[in-house]
Amino acid sequence: MLAYTYARYGAPEVLTKVEVPTPTPKPGEVLIKVFATTVSAGDWRARSLTLPRGMGLIGRLVFGIRRPRKPILGTELSGVIESVGAGVATYEPGDAVIAFPGAGFGAHAEYIVMPATGNLVPKPDAISFEEAAAIPFGGTTAYDFLVNKAPLHAGEKVLINGASGSVGSACIQIARALGADVTGVCGSANAPMVMALGADRVIDYNRVDFEHEGIRYDMVVDTIGNVPFARANKALRPGGRMVLIAGKTSDMIFGGLKARLKGKRLIGGVAKESRAALEAVVTLAAEGRFKPVIDSCYPFVEMRAAHGHVDTGHKKGNVVVQIDQGSRQQHSFGAVARAKSTRHTGLPGSAAALMG
Ligand SMILES: NC(=O)c1ccc[n+]([C@@H]2O[C@H](COP(=O)([O-])OP(=O)(O)OC[C@H]3O[C@@H](n4cnc5c(N)ncnc54)[C@H](OP(=O)(O)O)[C@@H]3O)[C@@H](O)[C@H]2O)c1
Repeated sequence: MLAYTYARYGAPEVLTKVEVPTPTPKPGEVLIKVFATTVSAGDWRARSLTLPRGMGLIGRLVFGIRRPRKPILGTELSGVIESVGAGVATYEPGDAVIAFPGAGFGAHAEYIVMPATGNLVPKPDAISFEEAAAIPFGGTTAYDFLVNKAPLHAGEKVLINGASGSVGSACIQIARALGADVTGVCGSANAPMVMALGADRVIDYNRVDFEHEGIRYDMVVDTIGNVPFARANKALRPGGRMVLIAGKTSDMIFGGLKARLKGKRLIGGVAKESRAALEAVVTLAAEGRFKPVIDSCYPFVEMRAAHGHVDTGHKKGNVVVQIDQGSRQQHSFGAVARAKSTRHTGLPGSAAALMG
């Protein structure tokens, strides 16, 4: 199979398209033919080793000390099951799926092997393969923070910094689905999009510092990394929560203590990559309550250009990479017949999805 690999950290030019052996599913695993994937902030960080301040050593321990440990990037994908290993009864060849290898990477290839019980769910027919591939990274991060780690409640006022990114655009929609009053911080060019996603109002980060507006929020969410607690504090009501999805290590470590001293809370850390969160956001997407934003779609041969666009730090939502469109069209015809005998959807209802 063809895959993009990298053997050293650096600019998109470190990526090379090479022929590597197609993996074989072991017992309990499935082989997925990848139709679409994305270049996520996770890929950018792992490829360039651009890490939040204070995370350099930890980053090298995670990604590989002298060179990348996992040569194929790609945190999320959609595709169809090509074959299944012994003992797999939940999927069969031809089933369309959405998968989130996450920190396991490996989606920038024509095929990937995953455990059948891993972060993998059936793809609803109503969602295109491109949209499907763009759900897991931003969607599950937003879901894990706003539903599991720092539950946001109906009627609460939330401010989301970085509302036009992959994580931020998902946060806006999930906060909206939870019934919150949502303010998005984004550039003026992205303001109409953020409003259309469900924000009640937007703040242009080039013109207004939200902490000086005099409005108090129940929750401030930072997906950019430029809101240390001292900044969020000015915009939080007494007892309010700051959610630090991106930030410096010192803010992650000391922000919690600073928040407590001010009678507030800071919730940070790493989103849990779980199948339950993936099922929940795919359910919301199937119901039209979460639509992953697609900035642009690149063909597989332009993987380096897709990375280059993500490197600018100004993508809107998600950058999708399409792989093997020929097989995808064949699958679309076959899917009509298969839909009549759908064995499972595996997805909970949206009410359950939002209860975590
Ligand atoms: N904690 C976790 O578990 C976890 C999980 C996933 C991701 N993350 C982190 O979350 C961060 C966001 O990821 P992402 O995929 O959402 O990034 P992204 O899509 O690359 O973010 C790009 C967006 O950020 C906006 N932006 C840039 N500077 C801004 C500013 N000063 N104020 C407001 N918006 C600004 C850009 O809008 P303009 O073009 O208008 O500037 C652009 O739309 C990354 O650092 C990532 O590593 C953390």
